Amino acid sequence: MTRHARPVELPLKLAPSDAPLRHRVADALIELLRTGHLRPGDTLPATRALAAELAISRNAVMAAYDELAAAGFIHAAAGSSTIVSPGADLAARAGISSHISPPQPTRDAGRDSPREPRWNLRPGYPDSGLIEASHWRTAWRSAAQQPVTNGLGSSRQHRPLQEALAAHLRRTRGVAADPTDIILVPGVSAALRALAAAAQLAGRQVAFEQPGYPEGRRALVYAGAVIRPVPVDDEGLDLAELAPGDAAVYTTPAHQYPLGARLSASRRAGLIRWARQAQALVIEDDYDGEFRYDVRGLPALHSMPGGPDVVAYVGTASKILSPGLRIAWLIAPPGLRQAVRQALVFTDEAISATAGHALAHFITSGHLARHLARAARTYAARRRALIAGLRDTAPALRISGVDAGLHLIAGLPRGTDETALQQRLDHAGLAVDVLDQYTTTPLARRALVCGYALLPETQAAPAAAVIAAECSALGRGSTIRRPHTAAQARARLRPAGAARPGGPGGGWVLDRTISVVASSTRFWNPIESPTSRVRAARVAISASGWRSVVSGGETHCAMGTSSKPTTLRSCGTRRPCCRAASYTPIAWTSLASKIAVGRSGSRNIADAAVSADS
Ligand SMILES: Cc1ncc(COP(=O)(O)O)c(C=O)c1O
Repeated sequence: MTRHARPVELPLKLAPSDAPLRHRVADALIELLRTGHLRPGDTLPATRALAAELAISRNAVMAAYDELAAAGFIHAAAGSSTIVSPGADLAARAGISSHISPPQPTRDAGRDSPREPRWNLRPGYPDSGLIEASHWRTAWRSAAQQPVTNGLGSSRQHRPLQEALAAHLRRTRGVAADPTDIILVPGVSAALRALAAAAQLAGRQVAFEQPGYPEGRRALVYAGAVIRPVPVDDEGLDLAELAPGDAAVYTTPAHQYPLGARLSASRRAGLIRWARQAQALVIEDDYDGEFRYDVRGLPALHSMPGGPDVVAYVGTASKILSPGLRIAWLIAPPGLRQAVRQALVFTDEAISATAGHALAHFITSGHLARHLARAARTYAARRRALIAGLRDTAPALRISGVDAGLHLIAGLPRGTDETALQQRLDHAGLAVDVLDQYTTTPLARRALVCGYALLPETQAAPAAAVIAAECSALGRGSTIRRPHTAAQARARLRPAGAARPGGPGGGWVLDRTISVVASSTRFWNPIESPTSRVRAARVAISASGWRSVVSGGETHCAMGTSSKPTTLRSCGTRRPCCRAASYTPIAWTSLASKIAVGRSGSRNIADAAVSADS
């Protein structure tokens, strides 16, 4: 029942605190409700009177009343008096407040939160601290000056950002697009979901790099696509593995994620040709194409002749600035654009218009170009320091994928337990990914995926030392070994005897296949050992015409999986080759002989190496 409104004398005391005055007044009134001094139906003092009694500004009291009214504790009544609402006492006793207090640090804070690693080598994060704070603030101030929008109209069409991006992409990636064709999305996964819906990929086969970007794979799977893993090698996606049933192919040509290869120029052209013939969609994820080191930039697939018709180009602000911005962009082939827009309306995925303004300002003011130039120099130095650190302390690791992006691959010897190593490193304070996290089927290859964007140069050597120490502790000398000497390699070879059908005559046979595969790989690897002997072996191999198949130190891969006598020609099929168990001595004969030819007179790998050494 409503009480008769009565003005009340209030024993109101403001608690000492740093909180804004309006919160303190509101809290004091709620406290009176809790203790029963103030009850539903009571009339609150006029704001002017209460302000005078408390010796504070009237504005603060009015703001406190507004706050209490918004939270339902009080309401305005006829005659401009303010009345305590029914149930306000119950709410006060239940501990309900009219405002949200800022979180107070507690002594237990952080007890349950994951420990920050001392060295964070997880890939996927740029160093947002490199952004010049004053430039960033200017961009956001400019965004804040824009009128508040009512949310109608789509922030997938944000004209200032579309125009800014069109200029940026033309300049940095050679991608020519009309601003209106650039569709804004809150992340690459949103772009993939929209593309899958637009191209009706549900239930159809999508070729996806293996190993590849897990979130991208997941986005397509959730959209109903049937993922077909396609291997990658030193030249990127293996086109020979594309199949007629593939409705689309997802690829990261600028810097394969995570192995780091750049899709070769010939494969770029080949992929566009294939897509046009197969009437398939190519999804080009250009997630970190802005960063490349000591190498010439290769054009985006989308910018190549015939590219715009079949390639959906996807870029993101996550690597160039911050993943927290949630801004990515998509340029779909003309036939899919309308369907992509519709798909995004359906899922209601759009960017924040304010963030869009800020990014547009950051680009058009030239701050992004300056930031990218400065960040690229810093990342290049961090990358150099990490490579040097790893080479010095862990020469058995095979480093690759260093031409672009923000991470590199440190190849581990076959058989290394990646997860155990990752756990050991985690305990030692170093966070890093392993290759297994990027694949859906077991790979023979083992590697650490090391991001260096957040690793200061001065920390590269200590981080590398931790990696080296944990690798050798894990292997106890058996997993990571020093490179073999020529004498050791020669000891594993024996003469092959007469010519065999299908194989070249003479040559040498490795009599223990599997173990020799592992050790010989190491023997040939230039990164493991800077000695001229190993370099010489490489020279010998490439002189023999094996250049493409031996690059990257995976020489044994070139020999195919045949259990029949393997000729050199059949070794060049570039089939997945890591089923090392099926290699035969004959295959080794072929390789050894071929190298002997390459070195004109050398009889085997070890000899070739030794003769070039002297
Ligand atoms: C291959 C790849 N694509 C895209 C992204 C980022 O996408 P998003 O825009 O969703 O943050 C990443 C981030 O690590 C990535 O590795």
